[in-house]
Amino acid sequence: MRKKVTKAIFPVAGMGTRFLPATKSVPKEIMTLVDRPLVQYAIDEARAAGIKEFIFVTSRGKGALEDYFDHAPQLEQELRKKGKLELLKTLEDTNMDSGAIAYIRQHKALGLGHAVWCARRLIGNEPFAVMLPDDVIAADKPCLKQMIEAYEETGGSMVAAMEVEPARASSYGILDTSEEQGDLVKVKGMVEKPAADKAPSNLAVIGRYILAPTVLKNLNKLKSGSGGEIQLTDAIAQEIEQERDVYGFRFRGQRFDCGSKAGFLQATVAFGLAREELRDDLSAYLQSIAQVDRAAQ
Ligand code: UTP
Repeated sequence: MRKKVTKAIFPVAGMGTRFLPATKSVPKEIMTLVDRPLVQYAIDEARAAGIKEFIFVTSRGKGALEDYFDHAPQLEQELRKKGKLELLKTLEDTNMDSGAIAYIRQHKALGLGHAVWCARRLIGNEPFAVMLPDDVIAADKPCLKQMIEAYEETGGSMVAAMEVEPARASSYGILDTSEEQGDLVKVKGMVEKPAADKAPSNLAVIGRYILAPTVLKNLNKLKSGSGGEIQLTDAIAQEIEQERDVYGFRFRGQRFDCGSKAGFLQATVAFGLAREELRDDLSAYLQSIAQVDRAAQ
């Protein structure tokens, strides 16, 4: 019987330079899509997938993130007193069980692989998930849940994958694939941020992973790779060299790259339009500016 995946690592120790000056004092993961911080979308997805332990790898200046997960008894009492029960429910739904969240410091931003390695003692010898809150995925069935269901059949390690334009390959980890099995592709190699003409396919890794604990052992030995950082991709690629299975999983859903400004704005519009109370006003506004734009051309 395969061990269940109940732990997830959320590496949030990066500097978020693409959102400066905001990220001088606001952690990127606290920035809101409509009214929910990015990290809340990731937590909701993890909970829906059966994750019970949430491990945040943080860094200096991320205090607001820890505060966000505190309960707010005074606020709750006030809302109850005023009969604002819907808001109270919204608030209570974000409460986490005591002891469910752990925070580990990454003292230096040495890369995503290093951030994951920092959590090794809390993972031990179990398979675990890694979720990057920058990647927000709108899906009928939450992406991590889709992956865990597939993982229960396959074991090994699994990365969420999506097709990208060849010109964009150099921004992602790219899969070298062999056979396809429905939504799954067997991976025979992985390259971090290849030049467009060196990319082995157009299948890119995005921020959802289910990893075997042996990946942590590989990270133990890794030196810095692409961009001078310790790359998670390299540690997963070593699994293949050691003849353990790695799969790419073509998830169903729409992924927004909220680590980039354009992606964040697109997600804001998409999640705004998905809200009943905002839809009419927002879509009327979008149509009006599209008309102005057309007229200007
Ligand atoms: P990014 O490459 O998006 O870097 O990291 P970043 O620092 O967050 O943002 P920019 O590029 O400066 O704008 C991808 C994920 O890996 C985490 C980040 O927090 C983000 O969730 N990360 C990256 C770490 O936890 N530690 C690192 O050393 C690097």
